Amino acid sequence: MGTNLNMLIAWTAAIFLLPLCTVAKTWVSLPVHAPARIEDDAPFGHQVDVAIGTPPQNSSFNIGIQDWLVAPLVPQCIFCPVDGMYDPNWSTSFKVSDKRKGSFDLGGLEGNETFTLGGVLQDLNTPMIFIDQMGPEAAKRFSGGILGLAPTKNESLRGHNILVRLDEQGQLLNPVWGLRLGGDNPRLTIGALDPNEYEGELNWVPELNDTGMIKVDAYRGYQGNILPFQYPVTASLSSVSKNIYLPEIMTYLTNESLIGPQEGVNLEPDHKQQIGIQCNGTQPPQLQFSVDINGINYPINQHDLIRPPSIMAAKGFCNIGVYKADPAGFELGVVFLRSVYLAYRFPTGDCPGYYGFAFPKGSTTTSNQKPRDAPPNASQCLSLVQPTSTPTPTIAVHEGKLGFSEEKFRVYGKAEDQWVALRGVGDLPALTVRGVEDKSVVNGG
Ligand SMILES: *[C@@H]1O[C@H](CO)[C@@H](O)[C@H](O)[C@H]1NC(C)=O
Ligand SMILES: *[C@@H]1O[C@H](CO)[C@@H](O)[C@H](O)[C@H]1NC(C)=O
Ligand SMILES: *[C@@H]1O[C@H](CO)[C@@H](O)[C@H](O)[C@H]1NC(C)=O
Ligand SMILES: *[C@@H]1O[C@H](CO)[C@@H](O)[C@H](O)[C@H]1NC(C)=O
Ligand SMILES: *[C@@H]1O[C@H](CO)[C@@H](O)[C@H](O)[C@H]1NC(C)=O
Ligand SMILES: *[C@@H]1O[C@H](CO)[C@@H](O)[C@H](O)[C@H]1NC(C)=O
Ligand SMILES: *[C@@H]1O[C@H](CO)[C@@H](O)[C@H](O)[C@H]1NC(C)=O
Ligand SMILES: *[C@@H]1O[C@H](CO)[C@@H](O)[C@H](O)[C@H]1NC(C)=O
Repeated sequence: MGTNLNMLIAWTAAIFLLPLCTVAKTWVSLPVHAPARIEDDAPFGHQVDVAIGTPPQNSSFNIGIQDWLVAPLVPQCIFCPVDGMYDPNWSTSFKVSDKRKGSFDLGGLEGNETFTLGGVLQDLNTPMIFIDQMGPEAAKRFSGGILGLAPTKNESLRGHNILVRLDEQGQLLNPVWGLRLGGDNPRLTIGALDPNEYEGELNWVPELNDTGMIKVDAYRGYQGNILPFQYPVTASLSSVSKNIYLPEIMTYLTNESLIGPQEGVNLEPDHKQQIGIQCNGTQPPQLQFSVDINGINYPINQHDLIRPPSIMAAKGFCNIGVYKADPAGFELGVVFLRSVYLAYRFPTGDCPGYYGFAFPKGSTTTSNQKPRDAPPNASQCLSLVQPTSTPTPTIAVHEGKLGFSEEKFRVYGKAEDQWVALRGVGDLPALTVRGVEDKSVVNGG
């Protein structure tokens, strides 16, 4: 009897103790590095701070709202930018297979690694592709790696996504992320939506076809005049495309009620995809463009819509952020994303995916517009837990470049260049020059 009672007590205690051992649900707010302006010939990617490996190496990855994998660049990659590149040699948790994925333009080996977000969220075995091959064209697009923020619905692949993994491990307060790419101090939050990042209520709309698409009610030009398309249209959202893409732009650029009064309008002659407006006059050029989603009108920032003059624009003209799509379709790229706050409730269980739109915090647009349709299944799928405070980091992230020397060296034959830190320099035998030890000369860097 006594034994049974003890067992019962032990068993009951275990039941009561168990919940204390589970992971606390939390969220994280990560800094995003954004270009000050969208320019013709400069990187337009937005990078978010992440950490990878054991100990966690600090890096910055390109935000992929339509990608589903994490893919770091590794030192074997010849055409990859080296900025903030992760080095597997300095990690004890690097696991790589011999299976290749991707293409010659962008490819690498499958494997797993520890992935850490803001020193708060951590997955010990995230499936990834270690990119060791990147074409010179793709190289312009990102450094560090890609953070895929779109879990796929495909059951056999879904478990490979970092968000699904964190959610299934009980680490996330909510199955959501929120993104503000424009304005001061842009951020990505994972696990909760931070009310300090947006104004008012979110306008939730269903994600169409599990493919990062939404319904657009109207594209508007000058004075709110509507561009003639068969509305509603289906448009995809993309953080790796630069512009707002339309299947047809001739109607827009030739109609003054749409493009507005311009001193001159130019269509790039070769591909006829890019529009320039004259910008060498005494007044800065003006352009109005906006997008209607579920009954709310979202204006695009002038600042991102009109590019600074460049060698890629016709003389006296500035290119604009409205492009002809090839192949034909509707796409809302970075020029659009920098003008809104975007939330995503990713699909889990019976709940489908939803995108939420709002005016970013501090935006001057005041609006009393209300969403036209309430999202389906809102009470089951969109009752989110509001965060009460910002979680403090508990996991130390190595800020420096692991493996690089503290000492800097001048580059042989490049007297004008900045001195550089080097990897593995401690392992080199000292150079002997006429009997003098000199480590400060490094052949070819
Ligand atoms: C590393 O950490 C610092 C401080 O958090 C951050 O500003 C920086 O962008 C991070 N990433 C890289 C690649 O250095
Ligand atoms: C990483 O280690 C391997 C094997 O020890 C070595 O061949 C390689 O050069 C190292 N890579 C770097 C970037 O240090
Ligand atoms: C990565 O993790 C998966 C699932 O945990 C496992 O099946 C796979 O073998 C691992 N890959 C490597 C290279 O260790
Ligand atoms: C899911 O992904 C696997 C692996 O890539 C593929 O073979 C399969 O066809 C996909 N299933 C669906 C329904 O698309
Ligand atoms: C979405 O899926 C439906 C049904 O499968 C299909 O008819 C429609 O063309 C798809 N839309 C897009 C934009 O892919
Ligand atoms: C130009 O656009 C306006 C506003 O949408 C429209 O009313 C007008 O018919 C268009 N003009 C031409 C020539 O298509
Ligand atoms: C502005 O550019 C246009 C087109 O190249 C040119 O015709 C015009 O003379 C230029 N005006 C000034 C003030 O430079
Ligand atoms: C969503 O709503 C539809 C129709 O009202 C219902 O059939 C479905 O079960 C709901 N789904 C969830 C996840 O509640």
